[in-house]
Amino acid sequence: MKYFLILTTLIFSLYNCSEPEQKPAVKEPTTAADDINIGKQLFLNNNCNGCHGDTGLGDGPAGQALNPKPRVFKDIYAYRKGHSEDQITAMLEFGLEGSPMKGYPHLNVEQRRHIAKYVVWLQKQP
Ligand code: HEC
Repeated sequence: MKYFLILTTLIFSLYNCSEPEQKPAVKEPTTAADDINIGKQLFLNNNCNGCHGDTGLGDGPAGQALNPKPRVFKDIYAYRKGHSEDQITAMLEFGLEGSPMKGYPHLNVEQRRHIAKYVVWLQKQP
């Protein structure tokens, strides 16, 4: 009986050893802070800041001579197509008609959403 127990323990531990733990390849969900950072990078890489300024105050160098002026993101009542994340995501695809604010149809919806999240975040900065 004693040997039987030792043997089963041994077999059991051997079995456990030979079975490497397999972790499924799950994509880590991004946090809200990650989303803002990804959005910020896209905002800078696509030169939105050239017109809107680094913090969305409408003071980018390329925006100075424009008429109408680049949107000041905090000025939520001035948005023509709405200031929510969904509305900005949609607006960014084709831009504003008859305006220097062009569309970014080459960006996919996920990229546009990240940028929109960053714009909404900028709206709320003091
Ligand atoms: C060439 C300068 C320029 C660039 C580059 C530019 N914008 Fe604009 N943007 C403008 C101007 C000007 C307006 C205001 C247009 C108007 O009122 O007709 C505007 C308006 C907006 C608005 C308000 C939309 C609304 O519904 O009223 C948002 C949001 C915005 N831009 C985000 C962005 C983002 C994000 C990028 C980069 C992907 C970007 N812009 C790039 C000039 C620019």
